[in-house]
Amino acid sequence: FKDDFFRDETFFQDFTYKNSPAAVKRFPFPFPEDDYMYSVNMEPHTSGRPGSVFEHMFDVDEHYVAEMRDRARVLADDPLRCQSLPHMTLAGWDLLELIMESFARDYPQWFSLSKEGDRWHWINRPLGIDQSFTFMDESTLPCGPFEYITRQAQGDFTLQDQREDNLWIEAGMVTSQADWSLDFDIGMSFHEWHAPVPLAGKMGIFDRALKFLLALQHGAPVRRFNWTMTVDPLLDTSPENYHKWGPSKTTMTPETIGKRQHLRVELQTLIRLPRSNAIVFPIRCYLISFEDLVRQPKWARRLHRVIKTLPDELATYKGFIRNRELMIDYLSKFDDGAPTSPGW
Ligand code: HEM
Repeated sequence: FKDDFFRDETFFQDFTYKNSPAAVKRFPFPFPEDDYMYSVNMEPHTSGRPGSVFEHMFDVDEHYVAEMRDRARVLADDPLRCQSLPHMTLAGWDLLELIMESFARDYPQWFSLSKEGDRWHWINRPLGIDQSFTFMDESTLPCGPFEYITRQAQGDFTLQDQREDNLWIEAGMVTSQADWSLDFDIGMSFHEWHAPVPLAGKMGIFDRALKFLLALQHGAPVRRFNWTMTVDPLLDTSPENYHKWGPSKTTMTPETIGKRQHLRVELQTLIRLPRSNAIVFPIRCYLISFEDLVRQPKWARRLHRVIKTLPDELATYKGFIRNRELMIDYLSKFDDGAPTSPGW
């Protein structure tokens, strides 16, 4: 089978991660307007244009193998990045089934799944995995179903149990997060884990989002974007390791910003699971350097305007207030003042 993965790229230390021209072209640029404010920005997660990141339920791209290696590295260092409370095992099986069936259907050149009753046979060619197991029998897998499958799927994953008209974050595989901690948040309810976010609570966004999610139906997933900024293509921007990556923000210069500053976009989906009635929240992270981003003139113009007009509270929360002026200076060179049209 054809193997186009960047197998050796790294997301730490020497940072050899890069996007191919095709990946730059399909980058999920998240701004439909010249300014940005939080909103209940959810839409049906339906299949999109062929080649886009929305084409399939889960996007597997050129970074797959290297991202999975980075996840294994982070977990070896800190096993608490993957946790699942005992009552979430059924949701873990739901997710394993969803990912295996989606991958085998959408990427048959890389993955296959065959079933004889409860006896399942899973092949993951890019990662060299060939596993026979009994569905719903944990003792037949090398680890729990949630950890097993999320070690083979790009992006972070959290599982939310639904009870008392609320959602409770009670399992997670979190190694590529935008500065939040699973170990801190696990067991919290929807408003509790969102408490650090500025402005949105007062705007009623979390009340409306929760109400919407409680009624989410099986078979009708939704998606939304979130975004932030990251210096160097580092996936693991965790509070646990802030002492390692936080100081890099102070080393940015006008000469290095194009290469080192990355727009970090999260494609987040919300999917109701069939047996457990839990909601899975895959958070898929895409990184693009400013240098690559400005190759699309309409993106460069728009990002300049978004960063320039963003409320200070958001730039502070997202952790880039210190470098905001540097970013604006760099991006302004690519903004000719032309009007932009709504959409991407
Ligand atoms: C931020 C989790 C759904 C809107 C966050 C944070 C977490 C989180 C952990 C970071 C908070 C911190 O600073 O510690 C989740 C989970 C969800 C979920 C597990 C699944 C049920 C949603 C939905 C919305 C939303 C449906 C829709 C409006 C936001 C916003 C932020 C945020 C606006 C701030 C992001 C930023 O500015 O970078 N979420 N969230 N979340 N969440 Fe959610």
